Amino acid sequence: MALVGCGSAVPAISVSNQQLSERVDTSDEWIRTRTGIGARRICSADEPLTALASRAAQAALEHAGWAAEDLDLILMATSSPDDLFGTAPRVQGAIGARHAVAFDLTAACSGFLFALITAGQYLRSGAMRRALVIGADQLSRWVDWDDRTTCVLFGDGAAAVAVEACPDAQNGLLGFRMHSDGSRNGCLTLAQTDTHTDVLGGVSAQVGGFAPLRMNGQEVYKFAVREVPAVLKELLESTGTPASDLNWLLLHQANQRILDAVADRFAIPHERVLSNLASYGNTSAATIPLMLDEAVKDGRVQPGDLIASSGFGAGLSWGGALLRWAGPQR
Ligand code: UT7
Repeated sequence: MALVGCGSAVPAISVSNQQLSERVDTSDEWIRTRTGIGARRICSADEPLTALASRAAQAALEHAGWAAEDLDLILMATSSPDDLFGTAPRVQGAIGARHAVAFDLTAACSGFLFALITAGQYLRSGAMRRALVIGADQLSRWVDWDDRTTCVLFGDGAAAVAVEACPDAQNGLLGFRMHSDGSRNGCLTLAQTDTHTDVLGGVSAQVGGFAPLRMNGQEVYKFAVREVPAVLKELLESTGTPASDLNWLLLHQANQRILDAVADRFAIPHERVLSNLASYGNTSAATIPLMLDEAVKDGRVQPGDLIASSGFGAGLSWGGALLRWAGPQR
C-alpha cells in the first residue's frame, strides 16, 4: 500500500482556553502546562461531521490527483457518527464515489490507524486498488461542557489519506501492531445510557442515547506512557528499524507530555515529533491524519520519509504502524 495523498477539514469556530475558562473553573495556564492545548475547533449546526469529512475526502482526492469514481473503498474511522448505521455512506454519496463500498470503523482514538491498516489488507490482497481512509470525530457533541476534566481536551476535525495498491518495493506500510484490552474499558467511555421504556405489559426496551464522555485521565495517561513505547519498540524491532532512522514520530495528539515522554524513551529529538495540539486539541480519530496533512502541506514531511505512528485511547485500544510517505504519483 502506498500513501499518495492527504487532505483535512476543520470547523471555522475556534474556542480558546481563555474562552473555556468563562464556562468552567479552569485557566489557560493549567490547560497549556498539563496538555499543550491552546484552542480547539467546534462544529457548527450547519457543518456536521459528514460535511467536514466530505471536505477532507475531497481535499485528499485532489491532492492524490484522483477522481471520486476511482475509489474502491471509503473507510471512515469515527466514534461520533452522524448516523449510527454509518456515516461513510453519506460521505460516499456527497463526494460521488459511486464505485466505492463505504463503511465506518469504530476504535476511538486508535480508529484511524486501525482503519489504515485494515484498508492496507484489502489493497495488499489485490481485492481493491484505491481507498480513502478517513479519521473524523465531532466529540463536541458528546463531552460534558460542565466537566472541566474532559471538556478542555477535545475538539472536532476530519482528515483523510488516499492509499493505493503498489508493488512491494514501494510499500508504505512497513509494519503494524494492534491491541485491545476490554478489561480496562471503564477508563474511557461514551456509553449507552440505561433508560428503558415500557413497550407492553412486562416488556420494556432500552431507549437509545449515550451518556457524555467520561475519562479517568490519570489511568489513561499511565496506560499511554506504558503501552505506546512498548508497541513502538515491538514495531521497530520486528522491522529492524533503529529509532535514529525515523524522520518523524506521529502520535495520537492527546497530551504534549505523552508525546515528549515517548520521544525521550527513544531519544528522538523533539523537533522530529509532530504536534498540533496547541491549535486543535484532541480530535480523536482525526488527530493522526490531521497532523500528517499539516506536515505534508507545509513541507516538513517529504516523499520517502519514514514515520512511526501510534494511536491509543478508548477500548482500551492501541496500535502502531511504521509508514513511508510517498506523496502524489504525478
Ligand atoms: O484520546 C484518548 C487518550 N487520552 C489521553 O491520553 C489522556 C490522558 N490523560 C491526560 O492527558 C491527563 O491525565 C489529563 C490532562 C487529562 C489530566 O492531567 P493530570 O496531570 O493527570 O491532572 P489530574 O487529573 O491529576 O488533576 C490534577 C488537578 C486536580 O485537582 P486536585 O484534585 O489536585 O485539587 C483536578 O481536579 O487538576 C484539576 N483539574 C483541573 N484544574 C483546572 C482537572 N482538570 C482541570 C482543568 N482546569 N481543566
